[in-house]
Amino acid sequence: MSFEIPFQLIKLDLKNFLLEPAKRVKEVKLSEMKEFFSDSKAVEDMLSAGRDPVIYKYCEFEASEEFGDMIVGLTVIYPGRVGKEYFMTRGHFHEKDSGEIYYCLRGSGMLLMQSKHGKVVHAEFTRGSLCHVAPGWGHRTINTWRGRLVFLFFYPSGSGHDYGIIKEKGFAKLVIAEGGRPQLVDNPKYVGQ
Ligand code: F6R
Ligand code: ZN
Repeated sequence: MSFEIPFQLIKLDLKNFLLEPAKRVKEVKLSEMKEFFSDSKAVEDMLSAGRDPVIYKYCEFEASEEFGDMIVGLTVIYPGRVGKEYFMTRGHFHEKDSGEIYYCLRGSGMLLMQSKHGKVVHAEFTRGSLCHVAPGWGHRTINTWRGRLVFLFFYPSGSGHDYGIIKEKGFAKLVIAEGGRPQLVDNPKYVGQ
């Protein structure tokens, strides 16, 4: 693997929460991730009322697709709930067993990690949190704050993303608003892996 340019200055635009240059920029609306929320009635009620909010957006810079090179990206999860469940990312496993580092720039939420055997670990994820996600663990980020949850992420190029298991089975735990504050509860729909 040879590089003409051994480095790239990447501008971190904290006003618009973007990286410049960014190879991939994606917005995920409710309609694109409706199967990932546990309260399907709340999803249908929102969509049939014509509400299809952007739940989160993310952008990534990838110098090459060679496994072993690195990707840096930034995610913004907007504040909000679908039924009792907070806005969150879809969640995924990496296709290759690669780890990841998450660094929270703003806001307050939770990082949910799940092994392939259904073991769940959660971490408070607030401004300044620096978290390591181990290889082989699925991960999802949840915004439990009234503002935007913004974080940087770093992981190996070529890791790939497997959303299928999460789309089909969800995580074993949900993060919902109960008694006016975030609660981690069992997912009644989760069928063990
Ligand atoms: C990359 C990574 C993050 C997420 C992003 C969106 O491996 O973990 O960049 O991809 O926060 O979440 P997902 O991909 O779960 O919709
Ligand atoms: Zn990841």
